[in-house]
Amino acid sequence: MSTIPTKQTTLAIHGGTPVRQTLLPYGRQSLDEKDIQAVVEVLKSDWLTTGPKVGEFEERFAAWVGAGYAVSFSSGTAALHGAAFAAGLKPGDEAITTPMTFCATANCVLYQGAAPVFADVTEDTLNLDPLEVSKKLTPRTKAIIAVDYAGHPGDLAALRDLATQNGLLLIEDACHALGAEYAGKRVGGIADMTVFSFHPVKHLTTGEGGMVTTNDAKFAETLRRFRNHGITSDARQRQQSGQWFYEMAALGFNYRLTDIACALGISQLEKLEANLARRRTIAALYAQAFRELPAVVAPTVRDGVEPAWHLYPIRLNLEALSAGRTEIFRALRAENLGVNVHYIPVPMHPYYRGRFGYKGGEFPVAEDAYERLISLPMFHSMTDTDMEDVLCAVRKTVECYSR
Ligand SMILES: Cc1ncc(COP(=O)(O)O)c(C=O)c1O
Repeated sequence: MSTIPTKQTTLAIHGGTPVRQTLLPYGRQSLDEKDIQAVVEVLKSDWLTTGPKVGEFEERFAAWVGAGYAVSFSSGTAALHGAAFAAGLKPGDEAITTPMTFCATANCVLYQGAAPVFADVTEDTLNLDPLEVSKKLTPRTKAIIAVDYAGHPGDLAALRDLATQNGLLLIEDACHALGAEYAGKRVGGIADMTVFSFHPVKHLTTGEGGMVTTNDAKFAETLRRFRNHGITSDARQRQQSGQWFYEMAALGFNYRLTDIACALGISQLEKLEANLARRRTIAALYAQAFRELPAVVAPTVRDGVEPAWHLYPIRLNLEALSAGRTEIFRALRAENLGVNVHYIPVPMHPYYRGRFGYKGGEFPVAEDAYERLISLPMFHSMTDTDMEDVLCAVRKTVECYSR
């Protein structure tokens, strides 16, 4: 018996009734009264920024992911910039990264005046292919920036080996992967530096926000200065010591995360395990249901990995369909599924084409995947009915366009 409910057969895009009356987004935050109270308390306190909640959030976060240090930033993008700075990237250097990511992963290399070099991904996980990385190594390579696409950790052991053999740093962009596990360990303490984002569609939100975790005290110190103009102490440290004196030792930015945001982060952290469990349940039910649909390729999970399921990107088996991704996407939107596409390969964006001369065809695996990808709704507060609606709409649509 099918596990996918059938409600309607005429597609909404063809004049039928949509599976849902209201749009189900692909991701969204969930905040409760405790979160709101935590923020209100800070609003009534003496410190709106650079106060006690910053250190508390950082300590709890580091302990949760199993890293020695955590340094908060005003966004995941700022955190990536911090990691690129702490890695010492500078003009003339190269960092190898994946095309299958949000542009911020590669942009952080450009912020430092260095060059991002893209290596293609593996067919199964759409994460960096270590073999392709090894082909892109030059004497200028200083770092590998892996991305845990959709929340599935990259091939961290192979990338670590490559980094060690070639004297490179391994930076992990885990903006999709808070809570993901690799070989029994949570991501955060595995790479030299690991970067997280707290944007509202992520597992934990602070509105905007980010974090870099590391086991290296020197990186942590550099990151703390970088997010505070390159200054050697922060305002609270100076108030506590009764000193006004400070020096600017490097060129930094104001990338600080506020106490308001950190209070929300602390409160959200308490729900993280439950939220991850819910995402894993949804992913398991999706995977089971999609076994019935030959036109849908569910994401692969490698052995030894526990993904965090930030996204649920299916790939369309276009050979079994009479329509392309754009048509299927439009049909799903008409059913009121807030589907999305992650990602246009970064080198295909006009800025990268214009600056580096990419023409298309350089990254065959990522480019082929891009033509097939659709991210389905995946967030921890999805109800069972939401999930059924997703399955129903996907089935209705792909069956209508099946060859
Ligand atoms: C892989 C990846 N890296 C970096 C970022 C940037 O994070 P933020 O939006 O917090 O700046 C994102 C954002 O979604 C992302 O998906």
